[in-house]
Amino acid sequence: MQISRYDDYGSMSVKAAEFVANEIIAKPNLILGLPTGATPIGMYRKLIFMYERDKITFKEVKTFNLDEYYPIKRTSKHSYYKFMFDKFFKGIDIHGENINIPDGEAKNPVAEAASYEEKLANVGYADLMVLGVGANGHIGFNEPAEVMKANTHVELLSENTKEQNARFFNSADDVPEEAITMGMGSIMRSRKILLLVSGETKQEALAALNRGIITPKIPVTYLLLHRDVTVLTDI
Ligand code: GLP
Repeated sequence: MQISRYDDYGSMSVKAAEFVANEIIAKPNLILGLPTGATPIGMYRKLIFMYERDKITFKEVKTFNLDEYYPIKRTSKHSYYKFMFDKFFKGIDIHGENINIPDGEAKNPVAEAASYEEKLANVGYADLMVLGVGANGHIGFNEPAEVMKANTHVELLSENTKEQNARFFNSADDVPEEAITMGMGSIMRSRKILLLVSGETKQEALAALNRGIITPKIPVTYLLLHRDVTVLTDI
């Protein structure tokens, strides 16, 4: 695991965008795993800028988002579906059929999770998985627990996560109870991982990586088992 520290959020985001762009240039039909949250917004902006300057094209790229709230309407201003279109997809030349996001409107979320995992398996999992991290060390919505689920599944959100994510809603009570998320196995099967750690609230998660101890109580520590992880941080 290589950890690189940047002076500020802007320079970390530029580096993250360059990292992703280089992967796309090397493999135009990249399978790209993507996160939501405040952390990757700067990277998405910079990638749009690079696309507008003809530095990269997403024509052959396939994306797989990490997670989505459940239940949630795609049109809800809080859905990750809407977030991804607003912050990224509408600014680039990706084809709609190459975008994959767990369906927060699915009638049966368990079946949706299984079919999402199958779609990932069919493409051989991500070539590059970009990740953020929750203040409690969660990855996607894999919450701290006694055990971790390997595959895409339905997860009950922790109180901590609901409080953290309340900043995007009116209150913690408005945050959906559940989410559909890739499991730690779905994530670890990626060939390469880029983890972005931004903001003071993530200090504990970063410290856990530096300690080098793997525990499901801090899900991000599972990444210590992966052979190709780059961490970019501004803290
Ligand atoms: C959410 C997402 C995670 C994300 C985390 C951190 O809970 N499910 O994938 O990494 O928030 O978000 P932020 O970048 O806003 O701190």
